[in-house]
Amino acid sequence: MKIDRIKDVYAVHSYFYDSIFGRLYAPGRLVAIGLMDIKPGQEVLEVGVGTGVSLPHYPRHARVVGIDISSEMLAKAKERNVNLGLSNVEIYEMDAGRMEFPDRRFDKVIAAHVISVVPEPLKVMKEMVRVCKDEGEVYILNYVGASSRVVAWFEEKFQPIRQALGLGRNVDFGALIADAGLVIEHIEGVNILGMCRLIKCRKKGR
Ligand SMILES: C[S@@+](CC[C@H](N)C(=O)[O-])C[C@H]1O[C@@H](n2cnc3c(N)ncnc32)[C@H](O)[C@@H]1O
Repeated sequence: MKIDRIKDVYAVHSYFYDSIFGRLYAPGRLVAIGLMDIKPGQEVLEVGVGTGVSLPHYPRHARVVGIDISSEMLAKAKERNVNLGLSNVEIYEMDAGRMEFPDRRFDKVIAAHVISVVPEPLKVMKEMVRVCKDEGEVYILNYVGASSRVVAWFEEKFQPIRQALGLGRNVDFGALIADAGLVIEHIEGVNILGMCRLIKCRKKGR
């Protein structure tokens, strides 16, 4: 899906995202933030922050930067920030494939339910690696496809519809993570029936 189409799709999602996907994926986001173990003064980047459902759960002692391509999703995130007084959070409209941040700025970088919806996942992953400190951590939280062969068959058949609705597509996360120059340090199933994976990575060779 092209960037403009993604913007159109998420302009629509912004009306109902929180009540469906905000809730459905809520447990996994909490596990992710717990695993991140963010120390005072550390700086976190959340790529594809959407309506900012995760933002209130970050510790206030951390600086959090959220970016997203959809101004409509971000409008909700900004409203949430103001309503909850999240003074530790900054939000920018930005393409994750071409981030305007210097190399090695962030201690932790996370993309939750984003990598499977972007048109060029490797480009986004490489950007995440670029802006992460060498000793930092990159986290991916995503649906990775059904383990049941029957459900996987249906998923394959309905992939074009799933993609058109902005619900992502199946991605080979193992290959993607390796190609982006990362190694997996921890992986666990989260959300209902462990249907999503939380993957913690470090830069290769450190
Ligand atoms: C499924 S939502 C996930 C939102 C949030 N991370 C969560 O956990 O619910 C995917 C988000 O990725 C954003 N997105 C898609 N492509 C993007 C890109 N190239 N750069 C930045 N954000 C992007 C969409 O606008 C949308 O808000």
